[in-house]
This record gives sequence, C-alpha cells and structure tokens, in this order.
Amino acid sequence: MSDIDRKSKVVVIGSTGLIGAQVVRWLTAGARAERYQVLGVTHQTSPGLDLEAPASIAAFFDAHRGVDHVIVAAGAARFGGFDALDAGAFEVGLRSKLMGQVNVAMAALRTLPRGGSVTLTSGELSRAPIPGSAAVALVNGALDSFVRAIALDAPAERRVNVVSPGWISETRARMGLDPGHGVPARDVARLYLTALEGDLHGQVVTAATAG
Ligand SMILES: NC(=O)c1ccc[n+]([C@@H]2O[C@H](COP(=O)([O-])OP(=O)(O)OC[C@H]3O[C@@H](n4cnc5c(N)ncnc54)[C@H](OP(=O)(O)O)[C@@H]3O)[C@@H](O)[C@H]2O)c1
Repeated sequence: MSDIDRKSKVVVIGSTGLIGAQVVRWLTAGARAERYQVLGVTHQTSPGLDLEAPASIAAFFDAHRGVDHVIVAAGAARFGGFDALDAGAFEVGLRSKLMGQVNVAMAALRTLPRGGSVTLTSGELSRAPIPGSAAVALVNGALDSFVRAIALDAPAERRVNVVSPGWISETRARMGLDPGHGVPARDVARLYLTALEGDLHGQVVTAATAG
C-alpha cells in the first residue's frame, strides 16, 4: 500500500533541458496535472542543487521532505578521442553525471515515502559506443549497473530505475547530424513516465523495455 494518496510531488532535476523540459510537459499535461505537483530544479534555480556539489544535494533533500518521486535528466560527461581522454576528461563525467546522480539517488531513497521512485538517466552509448564516447559510455554503464544493484538494497516499496536514451533528434540536429536517426525528446520523455508510474524496479528503461 502506498503512502501517497494526495497529489504526488515530483522533483525534476534538469527541468529546463531538452529531455527534462519534455518530462515536465508530460507531467503537467491533461489528467496528470491533477495528479502531480512538479518542482523543476537545476543548479541555477532556487531552490536548486548542483549535481557536482554533494553538499547541495544533501541540503536539498534535507529541506524537501515531502518529495514522492525524483527524476534526474541532467549530468555532464565529456566526449573526446583517445588523445583528449586525460584524467580531467574522465573526471567530468565521474563527478557530474555519475556521482551527481548516485548522490541524488542515495539521498532520495533515504527520504521518499512508500510508493516513491527515483529515475536516473544514462544513455545507449554503454551498449552501442561510437568513436570518442569512452568517457561517456563508462559513466552510462556504471549508472546502469548501480541501478540494478542498489534496487536490491533500497528501502522496501521505493523503486529506482534508469532511463537509457538513444541520441535525441534535437541534439543531432544541433550537431549538424541527421535528426531522422534520433528519437524526439518528447518520445524519450515518455520513458520517464513509464519508470515513475509503472512497477519497474532496478531496470534500465529503453524504448524496447517500455514496449
Ligand atoms: N541529448 C541526448 O541526445 C542524450 C542522449 C542520451 C543521454 N542523454 C543524457 O540525458 C541527460 C540530459 O540531457 P539533455 O540533452 O536534456 O541536456 P541539456 O539540454 O543540456 O539539459 C541539462 C539540464 O540539466 C541542468 N544542469 C546542468 N548542469 C547541472 C548541474 N551541475 N546540476 C543540476 N542541474 C544541472 C540544466 O540546467 P542549468 O544549466 O540551468 O543548471 C538543464 O536543465 C544528460 O545526462 C545526457 O547525458 C542525452
């Protein structure tokens, strides 16, 4: 039985980004507007948090005890070919996209009520790398492994999943690549609803998982 019988409060970290803004659109459209109260958070909002600053993550969850669901659609990692992959290049993804999201998940899982969920973001480069993606693929794979494992230790009736998007069409267009080979951000954003609303736990959510 869920503790959540009022309007559920959803924190979307990265709410102004390509994916995050579409997640917020889904959560605030139609009948979902009656079910969810959305708090969009970035490192420029107030309240906000910086994925790269663990103290800001801890402070946010200390100050926001009524949160039911947390979605993270943020986190940086560095693309670069072999010669560009020095320690600093790897460190960007480890500090931001990996440990930023791990720290959010751990803080959230400690405070969410029964029925609550955490949804993180990795990416398909862990499964289908391209040249120059090693530092990103490393982080994506680590996030997928983390979610599968922490699901075994998470407090009862709190779920944790990770959405693993393919290339977003809009991102490809910005890079001068054919957007037709990508997935629209709005379609990717639906995967976060699947994770939040379904009963998935410890899953890497892709278009194939979501069906
Ligand atoms: N786009 C793609 O093709 C694609 C594909 C697979 C996976 N992904 C992953 O999906 C996630 C989101 O990608 P996106 O393309 O939507 O990114 P985006 O458009 O660049 O948006 C990033 C969001 O995160 C916020 N943010 C940036 N730095 C932050 C920090 N240190 N702490 C808290 N919030 C921060 C940004 O807001 P502020 O700058 O205002 O803080 C913004 O709201 C990333 O992890 C990315 O690796 C993206």
